[in-house]
Amino acid sequence: MRAFVKQAAGIDTVELADVPVPPIDEDEILVRMYAVGVGIHDSYFLPGDASYPYPIGIEGAGVVEEVGIDVSPHRTGDRIAFVSSMQPKGGTWAEYAVVKASALIVPIPDGLSFTVAAALPVAGNTILRALSALGEVPSGASVFIAGASGAIGTLGIQLARARGWRVSGSASPGNHDYLRSLGAELAVDYHDPDWPAQVRAWMPGGVDAAIAVQPDTSAGSLAVVRDGGELVSISGDQVASERGVHARGVPYDVDVRDDLVRLMQQVDGGEVHVEIERTHRFDDALDALAKVQTRHARGKHVLSLGKGA
Ligand SMILES: NC(=O)c1ccc[n+]([C@@H]2O[C@H](COP(=O)([O-])OP(=O)(O)OC[C@H]3O[C@@H](n4cnc5c(N)ncnc54)[C@H](OP(=O)(O)O)[C@@H]3O)[C@@H](O)[C@H]2O)c1
Repeated sequence: MRAFVKQAAGIDTVELADVPVPPIDEDEILVRMYAVGVGIHDSYFLPGDASYPYPIGIEGAGVVEEVGIDVSPHRTGDRIAFVSSMQPKGGTWAEYAVVKASALIVPIPDGLSFTVAAALPVAGNTILRALSALGEVPSGASVFIAGASGAIGTLGIQLARARGWRVSGSASPGNHDYLRSLGAELAVDYHDPDWPAQVRAWMPGGVDAAIAVQPDTSAGSLAVVRDGGELVSISGDQVASERGVHARGVPYDVDVRDDLVRLMQQVDGGEVHVEIERTHRFDDALDALAKVQTRHARGKHVLSLGKGA
């Protein structure tokens, strides 16, 4: 099969190569890939026990080609989207991917394309876990999202609005109308040193909660949270709590599978919009990765392997 691979541990280069389709074990699924979501971590999230050449990529959508004998909930022919992070036999930038049945795998609603489905697993999983940490924030509360025009932030605005929260977010000025179109009341420019004052003018006393998506945004986000409010850092910034603000990272011990299934259905039903800045041919995958690595993608970039994705 054709796959974008790393040929050995410790090298940075990713190249298109012909490699064998990996055989599955009894607890694994072989997926024929139709579309791949591109993320900033794709080229370096590799497991310690990776077998080389290793196809990179941590999410995608396709059709179940074969299931191991111990796999019950999935059947050949099922349309699925999934997170394939840290799979020893390789990731999703390939014509076929092997994934453990225990991974985060969700069915694709009949009306949803593989392209849109492939854009959701990582961003959806991440924002749903971040929101689960803010579960106690009531309807009518205010939230600030740092990095609101990217893959996670665009979902975050819409899901926060669906909870009845009032939303503000940061992005470059060219994306402000777009943030408002998704439901943000206030859009601020993170390049402008005055942005925290603009958030505090919008919500005197500070917002009830903040979600810091991009790296190095947690301290600034915390500064616009009211005393005793909530902060979730998606980027993994280390930030000390102050003024009674409860600051934490994204929880890993919550199961958001059912929420991700519901999110797929909401997208299928038109209640949630998935922004795909561009769908690339599979052969142009490295261009897509370069764009995402600029941290200035609007929503997602997706690779299409053709076949009516
Ligand atoms: N904890 C987890 O499980 C987990 C999982 C996945 C990802 N992540 C983290 O999430 C981040 C990626 O999120 P994503 O996929 O949404 O990113 P993304 O799609 O690359 O986000 C790009 C957006 O971020 C905005 N942006 C760039 N720099 C910014 C800054 N300094 N302040 C505010 N906004 C800024 C850009 O806005 P403009 O273009 O308008 O300037 C662009 O719209 C990474 O840091 C990654 O480590 C964490």
